[in-house]
Parts: sequence; structure tokens; C-alpha cells
Amino acid sequence: MKGRLQSLLQSQRRTRQQGPYICSGCLHKNRDFTRSIPSTAQYPPARRRHQSTLAQAVSAAQHVFNGAPKTDPRLAGVSVDPLRIVGKELKFLTSNIQQLLGSGHPMLDTVAKYYTHSEGKHVRPLLVLLMSRATALTPKAARHPSLPSASAIDSPISPPTVLSDVNPSSPTYDALSAASIKSAYNSESSDILPSQRRLAEITELIHTASLLHDDVIDNSIARRSSPSANVSFGNKMAVLAGDFLLGRASVALARLRDAEVIELLATVIANLVEGEFMQLKNTALDESNPTWTEDSLSYYIQKTYLKSASLISKSCRAAALLGQNSPEVVESAYSYGKNLGLAFQLVDDMLDYTTTSESLGKPAGADLELGLATAPLLFAWKDNQQLGVLVGRKFAADGDVQMARNLVAHSDGLEQTRALAQDYADKAAYAISTFPDSEAKEGLLEMCVKTMNRRK
Ligand code: FPP
Ligand code: MG
Repeated sequence: MKGRLQSLLQSQRRTRQQGPYICSGCLHKNRDFTRSIPSTAQYPPARRRHQSTLAQAVSAAQHVFNGAPKTDPRLAGVSVDPLRIVGKELKFLTSNIQQLLGSGHPMLDTVAKYYTHSEGKHVRPLLVLLMSRATALTPKAARHPSLPSASAIDSPISPPTVLSDVNPSSPTYDALSAASIKSAYNSESSDILPSQRRLAEITELIHTASLLHDDVIDNSIARRSSPSANVSFGNKMAVLAGDFLLGRASVALARLRDAEVIELLATVIANLVEGEFMQLKNTALDESNPTWTEDSLSYYIQKTYLKSASLISKSCRAAALLGQNSPEVVESAYSYGKNLGLAFQLVDDMLDYTTTSESLGKPAGADLELGLATAPLLFAWKDNQQLGVLVGRKFAADGDVQMARNLVAHSDGLEQTRALAQDYADKAAYAISTFPDSEAKEGLLEMCVKTMNRRK
């Protein structure tokens, strides 16, 4: 796989020398994603407290996290493997998702399932499953709807003849009610409900749909160490396949028969688009006179919540709701997801500066190339007004990207980003402190540690 990505990046370098690369439906503005970037060794993970001005900026985005102690002792000495804790449930994830995505149109079938063939991290389903298990023994509250039967999540609500009206040979609705999906669920007894497992699959469908669209928007050439869907099939098919995933996710969501959960996940889809719009057009920035203000960071945190953390926070909340948990437990699950989601994206934005394309399986250093000022740059800018000019023109002039990279490397931007991510990870751990001790709770705590330590 690594060799594949390397040759993709090399061929991109070659075509860049030869001129723009045209793929069906899109014009790629090629950029060299492999230029050398500072190694992580230059940025020891030492924690550094933010100055009070930073604290003020972050507090402007207080609505996306709750208060917690600064350093959380719960993260010390945790060493369970989260994947093992819900391994049996995760084993069926990809095949079930592929069944949810069946289409009678062979090309649509191929493009829709394309990203399911490469190894994703499955972070969102993993968190949903861990949260479901960790809240199996927490205090419960009667709510409407009550627990759906195991078969309900596979059963159509409308008459099947209506759902398959002009498409009778489509595997779609057969697949959604297929015994094969049920048998996978029934093959072992589990304290994770069928509806919670389906929710885990839905989160991966929504996430994958957003990646299909994101790779078109970012003109990305690689994802998960393979050519991205837009490169393989063109922009039009990639976008339509993303839409198809959202359609199938919506059908599966409706069959959970829980209006509150449907409302949450539908809001996530809108949030993803809102976050992406905030990124496309920064309304907190005066491009003709770009100056660092407290708003620069709070706008970034809000965007980060919408584009990344919202799916994690609202799906953790939905998992607790499906488990008939008390309002306190539901809030804790939500707070865990909000804070972990923010930590996750902050680390992602840090890795974009510190890791290679080969290691990430996608182009590293892409954010500056795309004109994006993420946390490392925002922190560097705060101490060096010189960066404002580059931010204002989105690093588009010759040498801008390299200059910005150098200025970030010689600032404490990466260190401050890591420290902020650690604060959020600590808050996530604190949020579930009232849960009874269990292996799944340890798994959720370990996810906080893994989020901070990940290299890809
Ligand atoms: C990856 O960001 C992208 C996202 C987290 C969300 C993208 C959202 C949209 C494109 C809106 C449309 C949403 C749906 C559901 C159709 P990144 O570019 O920072 O990360 P990357 O390096 O992995 O590409
Ligand atoms: Mg992208």
C-alpha cells in the first residue's frame, strides 16, 4: 500500500512538471505534497499551559465543551486495547455496511463501496460501540420510544412494494432486511443492542460520505494509502456516491424508529456542511487587513466542532439514548464525544505539519496548500503578526507555504496545539468519571490516550 501511495505521489510530481492533470470531471491544480516538513522529534510532547489570552479565546467557544480539571489522572496507566473490547461487534462492520450500500447499478455499487475496501480506522463506530457497552450498566430512564425489537431495525416502515416500486430487481431493500445481517447480529449474545450496532454503521456511512465529498473539495489525490475516489472515478461519481451513502444512512436511521436519534444524526449532516462552509469562507477574517484576534481561534474551534466533533458527540449521545440511559448519562456521553472529537481534529491538524504522506496515507502538508490556517498556524500567528499577510492571501503567493511552514516550525504553535488537544482529551476523560468501572469505560479512556499518541 505504501508503495502504491509513493508511486501515486511520484506520478503527481511528474504531471506537475508537465502541467495540470485532468481527470474525468475535474481539473487538478497539482501541488507538491511531499516537500520536507519538520519531524515530530523537533516537537517534544511536553505540555505547556496557554497564556490567559488564549484561555479567553478558547472560552469564547465554551459552548462546545464543559469544564474539567486541567490534568486528568484517569489517563495515567490506562492500557487496555479498545479494539479488543468490541472486536466481535466490529468484525461485522464492513460487511454490514457493504450490504447497506448494495445497488443494482454496477458502477454506483462500485463507487459507493470504494472506501469500504481500504482499511479505515473506524474511530466513530468504535466509540459508539464502546459508549454503548460502557453505558449498559449506568442508570436508566424510561423514554419514548421504548426498546425496539431486534428485527425492527431491519424492517421497512413503508410497504416494500413502494420502496422498490420502479426498481424491483434492486438488492437495496432486500439487503436491508436480509437474514444475513440479522444472523451476524444473532451470532453471539452481546450487551450492545442491535440498534446501537446499526448506529455504529450509520456513523461510518456518514463519515465516509463526508470523505467522498471532502476529497473532491480538496482535490485530494490519496485516501487510506490508495487513490482517492475522485481520482479513480472522477468528481461527479464521487459526489453522487457520497449522496447515495447519505440516502442509505437515512433509511437505516429511520428504521431505528427513534425520532430523537434521527434528529441528532440529521443535525450532524447539516453540521458537517456548516463546518465545511466556515472553512471555505472565513467570516471572522478581514482579508484586506488580516489581524489576529481572539475570534480567530474561537472561529476555528467552532468550525472544528461542526466539521469533526459533532459526529462524535452526537453519536455518543445517540448511543446512550438508544440504551435508555438517564439524562445525566446521556449528557456525560455527549460531553465525552464533544471533547474527544475536538482533541481528535486538533491532533489531525498537528499531524498535517509533522507527519509524512506515507505515514498518513493521504497528502501531508495539505492544509497550507489549500489555504487553510489551522491551530498550529493560528498560535504562531498570534506571536508573529508577519503571518497575517500570508493568511490574508491564503498562502497563494510563491514561497508563502514554505515561509508559513518555517514560521510555524520556529514558533510554539505545534506545542500549543498539542496542549490544547490534551486539555480536551482530559475533559473527555472527566466527562465519564461517574460511569461504573468497566473494561469498556477503560476503553473509552484509552481512546483519549490513543488520540493524543496517534501518528496517523
Ligand atoms: C475531512 O477534513 C473532512 C471532514 C471532517 C468533513 C467534510 C465535510 C463535508 C465535505 C461536507 C459534506 C458532508 C456530507 C456528510 C456529505 P480534512 O480535509 O481536514 O481532512 P483530510 O486530511 O482527511 O482530508
Ligand atoms: Mg481533506
